[in-house]
Amino acid sequence: MKVLVIGSGAREHALVWKCVQSELVERVYCAPGNGGTGGMARNIPIGAADVVRMVEFAKRERIGLVVLGPEVAVDAGMGDALRKAGFNVFGPNRGAGRIESSKSFAKQLMARAGIPTADYAVFTDPAPARDWARERGGQVAVKADGLARGKGVIVCASVDEANAAIDAMLVQSRFGRSGATIVVEEKLQGPELSVLAITDGTDVLALAPARDFKRAHDGDRGPNTGGMGAYSPPAGIDAAVLDDVLANVLKPAVRELADSGDEFRGVLYAGLMLTPSGIRTLEFNARFGDPEAQVVLPRLESDFVALALAAAKGTLASIPDPKWDPRAAVGVVVASANYPDDALMKTGFPIRGLAEMPRGVQVFHAGTRFEPGRGLVTDGGRVVTAVALGDTVAEAREKALAGARQVRFQGAFYRSDIAQEAI
Ligand code: AMP
Ligand code: GLY
Repeated sequence: MKVLVIGSGAREHALVWKCVQSELVERVYCAPGNGGTGGMARNIPIGAADVVRMVEFAKRERIGLVVLGPEVAVDAGMGDALRKAGFNVFGPNRGAGRIESSKSFAKQLMARAGIPTADYAVFTDPAPARDWARERGGQVAVKADGLARGKGVIVCASVDEANAAIDAMLVQSRFGRSGATIVVEEKLQGPELSVLAITDGTDVLALAPARDFKRAHDGDRGPNTGGMGAYSPPAGIDAAVLDDVLANVLKPAVRELADSGDEFRGVLYAGLMLTPSGIRTLEFNARFGDPEAQVVLPRLESDFVALALAAAKGTLASIPDPKWDPRAAVGVVVASANYPDDALMKTGFPIRGLAEMPRGVQVFHAGTRFEPGRGLVTDGGRVVTAVALGDTVAEAREKALAGARQVRFQGAFYRSDIAQEAI
């Protein structure tokens, strides 16, 4: 079978890496891919949201399974168009993808399905939004309704901060159309947890849990990013927590989507907070997390393609539960100077050290590009994720950090405290 992975991040490199290991697979394509996917799959220069050309390509190559990596592909209607053309697609249609692409849609769905989440209200006018935030002493999270590459949430600690966040979105339009509607919700406290599940719209299989680190710098300082590292399994998460998430968050969400005519096939990702009063859902994503995929997929011992194909076809019930490597996985993202500030970030720098990785370190590429004559150069904010498995989190972490240290380019930085909490 031929598999097409859509996207260009380290998540997609990890997906490609997993797909090429499958006995069901004869060839893997990645569109558009990056400098790393090009080494193990064929990169196809079609953008992740270019629906028309993607469908043409899938027809020409008789693709057996399409895996949607990023939310932009889901939101472009890639799943709808490919399904309509008869392909097996692992990833939801646009309608079901609103669970990620519209925070107000997600909050309403959670309310209908009784999924525990923060109190909230939806606004398009700044004045009532400011009132709502002031009544809560400014202890709120202000969220752009639409997609914002993981950067559309401002967690506030005062009325002034809340007003500034509300104005940035509703008055100054700093998040464009994504921020023309906002969700303001009560600020919650507690450790975070990502639980991803594979679903065919009916059956729901939870994957190994992970924790990602969203702030740019050590000690959870600096701006929110797409994610600077992750590890799996997170400290202090037992089977009871996962059962709770499956029964009270993931399954009700999948059922509610199906009941309202938006069957979800693919990966549903619940971003959770473990508060003193129990689990609360912060967000859903309609795809694998990045960098969660880079630490969850290496622990998956079962054939990912078999799972994804069953989810795409609606036959997940016939597949055995996934098997997991008991070892821990830690992933450390190496990023370009000034990431996530696109205005200040520079790319195009040669990348050195990838050939001298310590044993057992897997490097998943994100913002890398192969330039004839110059070799591999940086091509984005998050450049690579260095991932390692270990019998303990400490061992995996040491190896992953040794790998990250080897990756050298002008302005490279990484967080040195990923997974440290578990040691
Ligand atoms: P989201 O994209 O909704 O997951 O939000 C990004 C990050 O903002 C989360 O990972 C949390 O760290 C933080 N966050 C979101 N919602 C809240 C909330 N209600 N209370 C506190 N922090 C939040
Ligand atoms: N790591 C968070 C995300 O993928 O949205």
